[in-house]
Amino acid sequence: MPVTMSSPLIKWFQLIGERRLESADASFESRSPANWQEVVGTFPSGSAMDAQKAVAAARAAYSAWRRMSRIHRAECFDRLAQLIHGQVDALAELMARECGKVVTECRAEVIEGLHMVQYVFGAGRMPTGDVVASEIAEKDAFVRRKPWGVCAVITPWNFPFAVPLWMLCPSLLEGNTVVFKPSEDTPAIGQKLTELFLEAGFPPGVLNLVHGDHVAGEALVRDPGVNVVLFTGSYDVGKRIQQLSAEHFDRIVAAEMGSKAAVIVCADARLDLAVTCGIISAFKTSGQRCVSAGRILVHESLIDRYVEKFVETAKRLKIGSPLHATNFTGPVIHQGAVEKILGYNELAKKEGAKVLLDGGRMTGSEHAPGCYLSPFIYRQEHKPGLRTIREEVFGPHVAIIPFRDNDHAARIYNDTEYGLSLAVITEDYRAMRFFREECEFGMGYVNLPCIGAEVHLPFGGVKKSGNGHPSAAGLVETVTHKIAWTVNHGTEVKMAQGLTTNIEGSPA
Ligand code: UN1
Repeated sequence: MPVTMSSPLIKWFQLIGERRLESADASFESRSPANWQEVVGTFPSGSAMDAQKAVAAARAAYSAWRRMSRIHRAECFDRLAQLIHGQVDALAELMARECGKVVTECRAEVIEGLHMVQYVFGAGRMPTGDVVASEIAEKDAFVRRKPWGVCAVITPWNFPFAVPLWMLCPSLLEGNTVVFKPSEDTPAIGQKLTELFLEAGFPPGVLNLVHGDHVAGEALVRDPGVNVVLFTGSYDVGKRIQQLSAEHFDRIVAAEMGSKAAVIVCADARLDLAVTCGIISAFKTSGQRCVSAGRILVHESLIDRYVEKFVETAKRLKIGSPLHATNFTGPVIHQGAVEKILGYNELAKKEGAKVLLDGGRMTGSEHAPGCYLSPFIYRQEHKPGLRTIREEVFGPHVAIIPFRDNDHAARIYNDTEYGLSLAVITEDYRAMRFFREECEFGMGYVNLPCIGAEVHLPFGGVKKSGNGHPSAAGLVETVTHKIAWTVNHGTEVKMAQGLTTNIEGSPA
């Protein structure tokens, strides 16, 4: 008999305009990865029809929302920020239960989401365009931004609060309306976020919520009423969204997808700092950040000392209940993830890896009911065609790869189809610049882990990691289109480029 931990007072719902839909033809459960018997909630499964109705509700709310003063739209975010402030711990706890991240990490994520809300509140009063020169003295020319219309926001389970806010905040501030589909693995935190928007006074229809899996997601993407799709998740789903979107003439898709991030430890690196950066990059969030390092490239002169310290540190990591703040990591998201990660551990062995720490399922009494894995660490020479050092694993699985010189390290770094995040550990300013210029990535860090972005910086990658629409503050570019607006203050028509205004055909 599953233990249902959700409060009976919480009603799980979808939100379409003003209507809360508490039931649907089908439903699904969200279960805690720390204890598969624990049901966090039972949610209505969004149908294709629900998705279409949500798009229609967002479309109906659009005109009034976009006509509202930008500053008044921004002020709604002030109220939202205050509400989030008041319940950081409760939100973090719900997130920890639902996605298995340790509560301290969940708290940091709530704060990261809060920063995005605060950012757009402030941005409401900031300049939104440019005044530019014209060839004609009497003309004033402006560059302004307009919203696109309706945005579909499709978000992952690993950052179920901050990543939706990275997308919702810029979209709504700029006057778009939204249909939000949180991951089917974290519907409770997605709904909680939606409730906060309602409580903050966002008008009905401005934010709509649809739960469920690819059925709802695909219906959203197929709907011609959606102007922009903002997506973070796997490459395969991102590709599918882009393919379906090609049918729609003015559809914009911002897709942030997988990665195979790396930490590059140069010969002159400070060993302790390099180990700390490696451990945090590889194992925070159980390696389930899109920016998590699946590879640590270490100069051959340092690798033996690095490996010894790294493995010894990894053995000491406390892995357990996400609700205990003293644990370093919790479980991975679900049974499917356990199997996928264990499959990659086995593949690494088949590909000739030297296993340094053989991670596997944790079966002690605390761990047996959940999806707990211990770290898998291996040493592997870089060779073309090895899958484990090129493909995304999304779990506590890391390769330590030796390199000869900086050229060699950059070649290894780039030898994957992804390009999201990079850390370089060095004291050498020339090496820093070399890696910045030669490696393909979106977020680079020096003497830091390759995780830990902040909302006012662009977040996105290249190659299979992203299609050039960074999230967070940078998303303003994607959720608006630029218009040129030119006004003549003279009393006669004068054209640029010396174009004649003579209508009769005789010389002017
Ligand atoms: C993600 O993994 O999808 O940079 C987002 C970081 C976090 C966000 C990660 N601020 O690690």
